[in-house]
Amino acid sequence: MEKKTFKRTLVTTALPYANGPVHIGHLAGVYVPADIYVRYLRLKGEDVVFIGGSDEHGVPITIKAMKESVTPQDIVDRYHTIIKESMAGLGISFDIYGRTTSETHRKTASEFFRKLYDKGEFIEQTSQQFYDEQADQWLADRYIMGTCPHCGNERAYGDQCEQCGRDLSATDLINPHSTITGNAPLLRETKHWYMPLDKWEPRLREWILKGHKEWKPNVYGQCKSWLDGGLQPRAVTRDLNWGIPVPVEGADGKVLYVWFDAPIGYISNTIDLLPDTWEKYWKDPESRIIHFIGKDNIVFHCLIFPAMLMAEGSYQLPDNVPANEFLNLEGDKISTSRNWAVWLHEYLEDFPGKQDVLRYVLTANAPETKDNDFTWRDFQARNNNELVAILGNFVNRAMVLTHKYFEGVIPAAGEWTDYDRQTMAEFHDVKATLGQNIETFHFREALKDAMSLARIGNKYLADTEPWKLAKTDMERVKTIMNLSLQIAANLAIAFEPFLPFSTEKLRTMLGMSEVRWDKLGTTDILAAGHTIQQPVLLFEKIPDDVIDAQIARLERIKQENILNNFRPKAVAEPCTFDDFTKLDIRVGTVMECEKVKKADKLLKFRIDDGMGGRTIVSGIAKWYQPEELVGRQVCFIANFPPRTLKGIESQGMILSAEDADGRLVVIGPTGPVRPGVQVG
Ligand code: MF3
Ligand code: ZN
Repeated sequence: MEKKTFKRTLVTTALPYANGPVHIGHLAGVYVPADIYVRYLRLKGEDVVFIGGSDEHGVPITIKAMKESVTPQDIVDRYHTIIKESMAGLGISFDIYGRTTSETHRKTASEFFRKLYDKGEFIEQTSQQFYDEQADQWLADRYIMGTCPHCGNERAYGDQCEQCGRDLSATDLINPHSTITGNAPLLRETKHWYMPLDKWEPRLREWILKGHKEWKPNVYGQCKSWLDGGLQPRAVTRDLNWGIPVPVEGADGKVLYVWFDAPIGYISNTIDLLPDTWEKYWKDPESRIIHFIGKDNIVFHCLIFPAMLMAEGSYQLPDNVPANEFLNLEGDKISTSRNWAVWLHEYLEDFPGKQDVLRYVLTANAPETKDNDFTWRDFQARNNNELVAILGNFVNRAMVLTHKYFEGVIPAAGEWTDYDRQTMAEFHDVKATLGQNIETFHFREALKDAMSLARIGNKYLADTEPWKLAKTDMERVKTIMNLSLQIAANLAIAFEPFLPFSTEKLRTMLGMSEVRWDKLGTTDILAAGHTIQQPVLLFEKIPDDVIDAQIARLERIKQENILNNFRPKAVAEPCTFDDFTKLDIRVGTVMECEKVKKADKLLKFRIDDGMGGRTIVSGIAKWYQPEELVGRQVCFIANFPPRTLKGIESQGMILSAEDADGRLVVIGPTGPVRPGVQVG
């Protein structure tokens, strides 16, 4: 297929819901790759605009507001600020970071809806919807709770059961009740406007399945499976009191569905950024539009929003939608409600000046083709072994040696050797693949390419050994140091899209006034005779205790979640009193208790059982120090046959309760009794 050329590029990133801060999953999937892409295009001198913003409508925001007894506006004001500031803190270089509660957006989205309405692009349908009479309010599915028909969880939501993970619709619930008043909701008839996606299906098929075979396989595959499943009309309005009012007579109390208005937010934010020229970016066929999103947004950006744009008629469709998979955290799915996340604003506080480390690690682990995992140990290792040991080390050595031999003045290069030429030839090859990888959204590979440039630099210094030559051949040392500094200057260009904070430091140290992609691979970036600054370290080792603290924080959250989500197990099969009395349960007093050698789980007890004493081995060493149990009374089963554990004969079993987190707590009488008495 012929490759189209473009005059300008519009890059958008999914608008995060303003009901919580952003976390590393958002960053790795959407914002960091988009920022790399945009920075690269800027370095190439291309015309690019980078659009971001908050998604401030939708039901979850109203629920959060209700829980906190504040208004939805309070919620979005709070999180919009946190998100906007933390993204800027990480160097995500939006040209605008807008919001969907802006006046421009209300107007743009209303007019968009109205145009489709006037063109007859919607169908009207009535349906049954739950209503809370006492609250005088329609109930979105999330506002209804009841018993899950699949697993019996009594606290399932009208859209999903968090116990068995199934998607539900509110009418599936057994005993549904309103989360506002607790009352049983009534079903009432309501009218809504629908996008007839079935009508657009043939054009969508043609456009994606025939016209965009180059899309990432995960994106293309998801689109194909939706299209093969057949598209249905989708409601684009809701009965809700938070959102953009439906601009039609007789639609009181109805708002645009959040997924109708949010993507139009890309347009509104472009209008706010470029009031006079925005249309060029959206409507001129020589512009290309690229949406960076996570995989859960594919259907909206590849099918529904394009169908809206087709229906409107004057817009370009996106040229590419490089959606990523998900990033997990220490092996578990990131979850806002379970607080299982590394939050960007907290990271920026905990690791001041280390924005690039996070950018680096998230890019190196980007979930481009499959879900991927972030771990703190990997974060530390990549910082210490890659950023510090390879990139930082090379730059530092080149600068330190220049100061040592030439007082910081860049020496002029003499004649190049074959080895010099070979080194720079390698540089050239990497430049081509690096650019190609960024342009095709392979950012992990691109980062490896950039890193390989730093490796070439390290190898060059190691192989040429200027510190040895300094005694014999200062002319050669001049050439080596000149070339090394030119390599460092190249790194300041190659890494700019990935590590903008460090490359800025590097540029300042080297005295580079501009960065341009076309300079990459050249060796005349720095002029001989110019003095470089004293080197400061670009990266520093992160010690174990810093990482341990982060891991400990996650451990605490995990424990809290386990305890908060505890539900007792179902009661066992019926059992008779006779069954029960077969067990001879007694009370005994712990006389001695000690750890069992070479068995970290076991404690050995000597118990006064009123019958001359017995020895019991119990697997509770993780939870008790031996001395804290001495003198305590415990319950034990007296009539189990003895068994041998680690060479010790155990004559019974001490009873304990297992808490939700697996912790064992020994069971005993609440007041003193005579050793040997029976429990029953
Ligand atoms: N708020 C949505 C989410 O977090 C993304 C909206 S993207 C937009 O999943 F296109 F609608 F803006
Ligand atoms: Zn369930």
